[in-house]
Amino acid sequence: MKMHMIIDELLRQNSLALPASDFMAQALYHPEQGYYRRPLGPWGFEGKDYYTALDLGPLLGEALALRLERAWERLDRPGVFTVLEPGAGRGWLGRDLLGAARGAFAEALVYVHRDDNPAAREMAAKALEPWLESGKARFIQEGDGIAPFSGAILSNELFDALPAQPWRWTGEAWEREVLTADGPGWEASDAGEAGAWFAAHAEDGLQPGDGSIWCEGLPQLVAELCGALQAGLFLAIDYGESASRLLSKGAGLRRYKGHTVDGRWWEEPGESDLTADVDFTRLESLLRGAGLSGSGHVSLSRWIREHAPLADWEEAWQSLDSVARVKRMENLLQLTLPGMMGERFRVLEAWANGCSAS
Ligand SMILES: C[S@@+](CC[C@H](N)C(=O)[O-])C[C@H]1O[C@@H](n2cnc3c(N)ncnc32)[C@H](O)[C@@H]1O
Repeated sequence: MKMHMIIDELLRQNSLALPASDFMAQALYHPEQGYYRRPLGPWGFEGKDYYTALDLGPLLGEALALRLERAWERLDRPGVFTVLEPGAGRGWLGRDLLGAARGAFAEALVYVHRDDNPAAREMAAKALEPWLESGKARFIQEGDGIAPFSGAILSNELFDALPAQPWRWTGEAWEREVLTADGPGWEASDAGEAGAWFAAHAEDGLQPGDGSIWCEGLPQLVAELCGALQAGLFLAIDYGESASRLLSKGAGLRRYKGHTVDGRWWEEPGESDLTADVDFTRLESLLRGAGLSGSGHVSLSRWIREHAPLADWEEAWQSLDSVARVKRMENLLQLTLPGMMGERFRVLEAWANGCSAS
């Protein structure tokens, strides 16, 4: 069935007002027609829809390798340190991580890729080939249970890809964004838990026009992932803000196609990416509820400055040819400049089972 027929059918089933989050779920994850179920990946530059930090070079993976090595040390250097990456896409972060790890940490490191996107699986099978062969990397399916492990859960741009519902406060009632037969619109609806959360996080009380997004599936995913992490680090990289900042600036769905971005989420379902800012306050609260502690989130720029060995990198880059050296510098600038990824992306860290927060 074609995507527009799927949406028409859902409109009929929903009395002609389909919540935006239900639309997003179908547009991205319909088993045959969903954007993230297509045989070709959306990532990259020329002819693609968007790039992520991994397209810019290996520095994020290299910085993470050092960060995870410290987590491994904090766990008293276990013989196996498993890194599970949900939403792993092409497996490039795993590749960069495995390529950068050194010494006894590299021996302990096992990377687990989880992403049912067929394009992701195919590209990851190539990127991770040497480690798949040696048993240092493996795949798991999203529906499979996750065997308990010690190590880390790592994600880059996973949470922004979960179906999310925009809400806004009129001054008297909550409205949710919907698609009708005439196009997008807003309908009055009971905001339930979402409304209570927004009200609790509006710093000066709710103002007409305040609004944010609510990701219904977040608690279940957090519980599933954290339930498996016996001890270690949870680290998520994504764009978003605290709950109060999202409310005051207004948050909605964004559509990416061919490296342009707009708010026309209802157009071309299955052919363009849909995404929403992550509510980091809520993610942290759910992590605490799952028993993790010491959580906090900082801008990617600050995280890189705290965790990347910038002086060592600078010295090592002197021996590269000028093209390679400039590429590394560009990679670093992309990760740290405020208008690029430096302030738009945040890194959240939390600890499972008694690890301290530093
Ligand atoms: C925005 S892409 C990011 C891919 C990759 N991390 C990168 O940075 O290039 C989001 C990915 O998350 C995957 N995804 C969404 N929900 C997931 C879940 N519950 N478990 C695992 N992967 C998921 C999608 O299939 C998609 O490939």
